[in-house]
Amino acid sequence: RKKVTLNTLQNLYKKREPITMITAHDFPSAHVADHAGMDMILVGDSLAMVALGMEDTSEVLLEEMILHCRSVARASKSCFIVGDMPMGSYEISPTQAVTSAIRLIKQGRIHAVKLEGGAVMSDAIAHITRAGIPVLAHIGLTPQRQNALGGFRVQGKSAASALRLLHDARTVQAAGAFGVVLEAVPAEVAAYVTRALRIPTIGIGAGNGCSGQVLVQVDMTGNFPPGRHLPKFVKRYGDLWGEASRAIESYREEVKSRAYPATEHEYPMAKEDFAEFER
Ligand code: KIV
Ligand code: NA
Repeated sequence: RKKVTLNTLQNLYKKREPITMITAHDFPSAHVADHAGMDMILVGDSLAMVALGMEDTSEVLLEEMILHCRSVARASKSCFIVGDMPMGSYEISPTQAVTSAIRLIKQGRIHAVKLEGGAVMSDAIAHITRAGIPVLAHIGLTPQRQNALGGFRVQGKSAASALRLLHDARTVQAAGAFGVVLEAVPAEVAAYVTRALRIPTIGIGAGNGCSGQVLVQVDMTGNFPPGRHLPKFVKRYGDLWGEASRAIESYREEVKSRAYPATEHEYPMAKEDFAEFER
């Protein structure tokens, strides 16, 4: 498979072929995404929860994002890899944003960065873009700003809020973003914003009218214990948790019953050599 570049993504967008994106946070999760033929991998700061067991994304550090980006980059041969700028690494000034973005690219070995925020982040987006680093914007529900948003709530539901979203989308486009993630937005608003832009929109909980889709890998593969609440937009395509726990339970039982290891799992030794050893 050919390497996916910014040009590849622009061609998909021109052809109106949906762009496929999925999160990965380490070598195996990136390897399988690459193998499955995804266009883009997102090293999302959702790894704070899914890989590091943190309470929310605001806890993860730039150093930790860099470590995970590196492991994803080693596994992916073809995908265009975007890394999340963690909370606190870009909001203070455009200079801080460029400094952090350069570290994420140089040390994380990825291709582009994503940051949360619309019009308020346009200076940061412009500065990072001018440094030669492609920026994916992220508007609508922005989890790093959950406290200011009053929790995880659908954005753009009222006319005024939809207008703000459209303004944010146009502003990040003007600032140089190569695309924009729309999270938890009514489908009609996301489709309208998509038509209004000349860069691709990547939807998550934003309906079918976006230029592409992104999901968190552990959610869509079902790699979580039963009973966990999932957002409405997640479709569970697999049962990785079930597979893994059935496998581990069988292993545990077979060790207890001495069914494992069986003869075929043992290394052979010549009888005479063992006899000599015993003597
Ligand atoms: O961190 C993440 O996984 C994300 C996606 C949900 C868009 O930002
Ligand atoms: Na994120």
